Amino acid sequence: MEGDRVRVFNFAAGPAALPLEVLQQARDELLDWRGSGMSVMEVSHRSKAFLAVARQSEADLRVLLSLPDHYRVLFLQGGATAQFAAIPMNLAGADSCVDYVSTGSWSNKAIGEARRYCRVQLAADAVDSGYHSVPPQSLWKLTDGAAYLHYTSNETIGGVEFPFVPQVDVPLVADMSSTILSRPIEVERFGLIYAGAQKNIGPAGLCVVIVREDLIGHARAGTPTLWDYKAMADEGSMLNTPPTFAWYCAGLVFQWLRRQGGLAVMAQRNRAKAELLYRAIDESGFYRNPVESSCRSWMNVPFTLAQPELDRSFLAEANAAGLANLEGHRSVGGMRASLYNAMALDGVVALTDFMRDFARRHG
Ligand SMILES: Cc1ncc(COP(=O)(O)O)c(C=O)c1O
Repeated sequence: MEGDRVRVFNFAAGPAALPLEVLQQARDELLDWRGSGMSVMEVSHRSKAFLAVARQSEADLRVLLSLPDHYRVLFLQGGATAQFAAIPMNLAGADSCVDYVSTGSWSNKAIGEARRYCRVQLAADAVDSGYHSVPPQSLWKLTDGAAYLHYTSNETIGGVEFPFVPQVDVPLVADMSSTILSRPIEVERFGLIYAGAQKNIGPAGLCVVIVREDLIGHARAGTPTLWDYKAMADEGSMLNTPPTFAWYCAGLVFQWLRRQGGLAVMAQRNRAKAELLYRAIDESGFYRNPVESSCRSWMNVPFTLAQPELDRSFLAEANAAGLANLEGHRSVGGMRASLYNAMALDGVVALTDFMRDFARRHG
């Protein structure tokens, strides 16, 4: 396909690879967007043409996720990190208790921020496993009357993914930044789902929030208007100027996903990619992934080499072979391959071939 010659296999954790077709469409429409003689970046967010983009992107997302009518979709700024604060501000009073599950870096960031706004109880903490597993729900301590329970369905740094959806009587809140759209989800089990866009949705600059209608309209006094879900929902996420280009690109990604056959098809592909990589790691005797097998992420696969002094050569040789951005997060080192929707099976085949060859030469 055109563009293949210059494109590498990009294993970045986010901002991450986008589907080639989406990039090509954005390129083709850049100077003259749908006959306007302008790019989409140069038109008003309140123009009919852009409002149609906003409407269509939400409609496509609703189809992809089979979203029931009583869920609102917000396209917000500030990334998932802004939601770490906006969630307690909108869903809990200052005296409320909220339950959080700690499974690694991102859930701990969410917890740290929530502590500034309400009383946080740790329902479960994976620290004893070195954050390499998810504590089974039978061991959790839930707080009666908690305003919500928050968990991070996939820890992007640790590569730990929930193998189950928690069953709780309070609104369930999930940070799905690195797993949304990778497979179907039962939205009705959730009160709120949020995800920074720059992994499986589109370019950085957007955060998608999907929230059950009855949970909005209760923001505490002092909540910035821009972070008040009701105020944003009432204005179609356009209380102020939204990141129009990122939103447009997200819309192109949603249409691309629909053309692929939807999330059930993506799930099959994502499972196959992850299985291929974990098998290559486990069979190698040279690479190692520390995560308990039932909690291994389909999206982010961290791994170490038997000899850490070979890390630099591994990365340099991988880069030379067109396998980019395999360096692990700066907080943990080692390697990490992110396998979001836009990473084709070909990329994982190329990676595992390279890994086998590298291990044979250096093992
Ligand atoms: C699981 C998870 N939550 C939250 C964030 C923070 O997202 P943002 O940079 O959009 O604020 C990230 C970023 O990588 C993430 O992976």
